[in-house]
Amino acid sequence: MNFQLKTFEEYKAAYRRSVEDPEGFWGEVAEHFHWYRPWKSVLEWEFDTPDVKWFNGGKTNITYNCLDRHLDTRGDQVAILWEPNNPQGEAIRLTYRQLYHEVCRTANALKSLGVGKGDRICFYMPMVPELTIGLLACARIGAVHSVVFAGFSAQSLADRINDSACKLVICSDYNARGAKNIPVKQVVDDALAMGCPSIEKVMVLRHTGEKVNWDNNLDVWWHDVVSGQPAACPPAEMDAEDLLFILYTSGSTGKPKGVVHTVGGYMVFAAYTFLNVFQYQEGDVFWCNADVGWITGHSYIVYGPLLSGATSLMFEGVPTYPDAGRFWEVCEKHRVNIFYTAPTAIRALMAMGDEWAEGHDLSSLRVLGSVGEPINAEAWHWYHEKIGRKNCPIVDTWWQTETGGILISPLAGLTPLKPNYASLPLPGVQPCLIDANGQEIEGDGVEGMLCMKFPWPGILRSTYGDHERCRQTYFETFPGKYFTGDGARRDEDGYYRIIGRADDVIKVSGHRIGTAEVENAINEHDLVVESAVVAFPHNIKGQGIYAYIITDKPVTDFPKFEREVLATVARIIGPIAKPDVIQVVPGLPKTRSGKIMRRILRKVAEGDTSNLGDTSTLLNPEVVAEIIAGARR
Ligand code: PRX
Repeated sequence: MNFQLKTFEEYKAAYRRSVEDPEGFWGEVAEHFHWYRPWKSVLEWEFDTPDVKWFNGGKTNITYNCLDRHLDTRGDQVAILWEPNNPQGEAIRLTYRQLYHEVCRTANALKSLGVGKGDRICFYMPMVPELTIGLLACARIGAVHSVVFAGFSAQSLADRINDSACKLVICSDYNARGAKNIPVKQVVDDALAMGCPSIEKVMVLRHTGEKVNWDNNLDVWWHDVVSGQPAACPPAEMDAEDLLFILYTSGSTGKPKGVVHTVGGYMVFAAYTFLNVFQYQEGDVFWCNADVGWITGHSYIVYGPLLSGATSLMFEGVPTYPDAGRFWEVCEKHRVNIFYTAPTAIRALMAMGDEWAEGHDLSSLRVLGSVGEPINAEAWHWYHEKIGRKNCPIVDTWWQTETGGILISPLAGLTPLKPNYASLPLPGVQPCLIDANGQEIEGDGVEGMLCMKFPWPGILRSTYGDHERCRQTYFETFPGKYFTGDGARRDEDGYYRIIGRADDVIKVSGHRIGTAEVENAINEHDLVVESAVVAFPHNIKGQGIYAYIITDKPVTDFPKFEREVLATVARIIGPIAKPDVIQVVPGLPKTRSGKIMRRILRKVAEGDTSNLGDTSTLLNPEVVAEIIAGARR
């Protein structure tokens, strides 16, 4: 696809064009894809309702573009290169032709289970090739996938299944992660026991081979339904604005919401951003080590690379198993050219010492990427020097579940780099900074809330089953604009530096966690009357979770109480949301209208109580001193 920009000048020209003539610009990009029927209009939009349609009237199938289209030119090239958790295990290489056949077989299997266009299918899987195959099989027949990260609890899984009334859940027997095998099927059984009336079947991949409970009426083995299916399956002709997938993510309030992405715009945007940001070259091995349970895996393990005919490495394991050299061993073994990870992994490995990287031949690396949270200067420089050996540009890619693909990032090797800056918007992306009064801040050397003035093809279309929530969350705060939830700074070169969330969302090890969700989970504990959760800076995780808890009886055995609270959070949300610090407090600082003054709690959690600001409007100012006295950091 020759929409890859080759120089910084070309980038600037493309950017100008994309702002002056967005429809002309994106129309030309979209012509590189296969469409059964061309679109009637490139873009129809308004941000009030909101209502955004890209390539409306066009018909396509994203798997035709990921697979069929490559068969003549690169049928024998490796599409998915899978590295197992166990370093002694054998890597799997699936060529485009093999992947095509597997996807078709699996699509036919889904049909045999009664799955059709528009049905929602939930995935709760390890990082194995069958996950990619399963997603593409859904897309092949027009079913909508909803991947739930396999670290979430049974309760979280049940909530997500029910929110979008999934018909089928696809899981493995066990997941292998590091030294542990995790009983995934059991979690699914537990979720269904909580009540998931829409589920008709559970499709189980035999992965580790351990024994699982079996219900003959409900459970089917992946291999039983897939083997023997025809290796061809006609792609469903999908409207550009038909749903491709739902992905749940956390916000400031309430339960996680199902972010909705549609076929045409997402397809165009995933491929455009992949080829341009990473500057993928023919024959490169691309390794994004996010989990497919997050948007990064959707866009840059599955869709972006496959649409571009790339070789995408999929890694089952964790960075520190069997030791802290695993990432670099895998880079060396598979001659990885482009490596994309999260700052939290970089910091964790940096803390374990340089020697783990030094022993490996990393000369194949050409481009490094970072995603999910701000990358601090120390981590940036370590990544640049110890991993990139000063030869590899780092693309600090800023984006969100809601944006479908990267919005602000250097283009590798093209954009001059500045550490800690996500740098410039991609073509088609029109950021702005807004002040507290909702006015756009012009000029440079300024800071504000990061918004988008104009739609890009990968923008979310809705939140599943609750369009009003989508409007309120993203389009109401600053009318006429998409509000990202992040604060940012713009410098004299127009470069953006992301400061972090301006709302009550915490990024723990790059995972997005809503404070309200954690509070609701903590409140399930018998002793808890009320709780308030805030973030604090954490050396490795970026942010940690600090929970202030009011109990109805004095806590006599704190370690026991702490263990129980952590177990409660793990049970209700999942281990990733467990607080790092718990403090039992006599009260929470509240305004006269009953709102918790989180600013004060954040200061205490940060260990900086020198300037707490004005506390005179508090209903209970005396509680502040007690909270400070009992602070646990
Ligand atoms: O706060 C920003 C942070 O991650 C948030 C989006 O989280 P999620 O939807 O889970 O998607 C993560 C992967 C795309 C953003 O609102 N974030 C993401 N990338 C960066 C970042 N913060 C700073 N720098 C980044 N490169």
